[in-house]
Amino acid sequence: MANGKIAGMGFYVPERVVTNEKLTEYMDTSDEWIQERTGIKERRYSKRHEESTTSLGAKAARIAIERAGITPEEVDFIIFATLSPDYYFPGCGVLLQRELGITKTEIGALDIRNQCSGFVYGLSVADQYIRSGMYKNILLVGAENHSMGLDFTTRGRNVSVIFGDGAGAVVIQPNEEEGKGILTSKLHSDGTYAEELALINPGAHGGYFREDGEAYFGYEAAEFGKTFVTQKMLDEAMLFPYMNGQLVFKTAVVKFIEVIHEALASTGYEAQDIDLLVPHQANLRISQFIQKKLRLADERIWNNIQRYGNTTAASIPIALTEAWENGKAQEGDLVCLAAFGSGFTWGSVLIRM
Ligand code: UT7
Repeated sequence: MANGKIAGMGFYVPERVVTNEKLTEYMDTSDEWIQERTGIKERRYSKRHEESTTSLGAKAARIAIERAGITPEEVDFIIFATLSPDYYFPGCGVLLQRELGITKTEIGALDIRNQCSGFVYGLSVADQYIRSGMYKNILLVGAENHSMGLDFTTRGRNVSVIFGDGAGAVVIQPNEEEGKGILTSKLHSDGTYAEELALINPGAHGGYFREDGEAYFGYEAAEFGKTFVTQKMLDEAMLFPYMNGQLVFKTAVVKFIEVIHEALASTGYEAQDIDLLVPHQANLRISQFIQKKLRLADERIWNNIQRYGNTTAASIPIALTEAWENGKAQEGDLVCLAAFGSGFTWGSVLIRM
């Protein structure tokens, strides 16, 4: 059975550049703090009323489709990974289909909710569909429009300074060359920490309490309805993401290394065989830690969080495309992708380009 290969890739980031300095107008933070702790210098924010998660994704998708040498109408399956969808439902997959002008209904659209590891999960799903022979042209998109939903006051600064908007896309097709394409994918999850990096409201959870007993559900008991979005949620900033940054950081550095080694071991490679590592752009300090542990030279890792911040599901396809456009991840190269984030979920993919 043919495995999957990346036949085309593309990315798009909004034009609006937002520097760390600009954020100091809204919250008590500093360029120095942000750069020292995260490596981020600036990020991109989408245009209000003009750009959505789907429209960002569509721009990246059109580039990937063209580079794969196909037309949108030839796509037979869409996978869309995001944590900042246009709508609560339906998902961005069908919205993307419409935006790309794909009118045929002999196509499937699947939405992936795996946050930072969404693209890696999506690649694994795409590869399995290709291997089974079910689809031939799978469009996988990772896109985020974070700036729509962050807390830009000092209260939310540990989260809001990190994230940026953007989109990346790949087209996956059957690989015909021995030893090439997606060699393996490794996926993991640990729901123990589900609320440590989460946006809990609005939700259908029926009430969630933190360990300190503080109610986090934001509504008074009611027999039916009137609980999904309440005034209390608005008043008490419960509609913003929460992150236990230190726990995420400490867990991430361990899991990144483990899952990269797992992919290498199952394919008979060693860290020194990696031509390019594209880690999810969570924090430059995390990437640097991984690089050091794997003893990779600077030219064997691609980081762009300095310019785009953390774009969650979009970060790997943006970085991979940018690396490729800069002469990395070329034909025959061994490329490793790895991600860790909310869930916790994490994973890696090893590709011979
Ligand atoms: O992709 C999803 C996965 N996410 C991640 O991988 C993120 C992992 N975590 C991190 O990257 C780091 O934990 C952060 C960058 C988010 C935070 O860095 P930290 O070194 O863990 O800082 P902290 O949260 O422990 O906060 C240290 C201090 C606090 O002040 P006090 O209590 O020491 O007075 C915070 O209030 O820094 C303060 N602080 C800030 N100060 C200025 C938090 N955010 C900011 C800010 N500007 N933006």
